[in-house]
Amino acid sequence: MSSRPFRVLFVCLGNICRSPAAEVVCCAHLDREGEQRVQVDSCGTAAYHIGQRPDARMLAALQRAGFVYGGHRARQFRREDFARFDLIIPQDEENRADLLALASTAEQKARIVPMSRWFAAGETRREVPDPYYGDASDFDDVVSLLDAAMPGLLRDINARLQRGEA
Ligand code: 4NP
Repeated sequence: MSSRPFRVLFVCLGNICRSPAAEVVCCAHLDREGEQRVQVDSCGTAAYHIGQRPDARMLAALQRAGFVYGGHRARQFRREDFARFDLIIPQDEENRADLLALASTAEQKARIVPMSRWFAAGETRREVPDPYYGDASDFDDVVSLLDAAMPGLLRDINARLQRGEA
């Protein structure tokens, strides 16, 4: 088995709502499972919010759901991230298209897998909806959608580690 960690990067537009939430929720699931072989980060495709903390409405939603925010400052995706991460996970179709446009090899493109791949059975949506112009219930919805997707993502990561993909 590989000794280096498996590295996961969640990506949204601003890196202040969905992808930092995905990072927090994923880390909580990894902790719960005692899974220490995985490193998690998040970033945005846009530069609007570089250096900022997550949106206060997202931090409140995470807190309501019992998740602990560990500290994150927004940063923008950069091409070097293709080499640094094993799995690059856009939250919506626009994020996915933006990442695919930056990828220059088939191997880089293969690392981009939409978050919806792991949505829970019965979920009919195909994206994590952007809550930025929504209300508190939209932020709660993002957290619960991500929470429900994480067991599937962790199973997939475990399978990839078993195959020695890291
Ligand atoms: P995120 O949400 O991509 O989930 O971080 C947004 C954050 C900022 C903006 C849009 C969406 N914005 O337009 O500034």
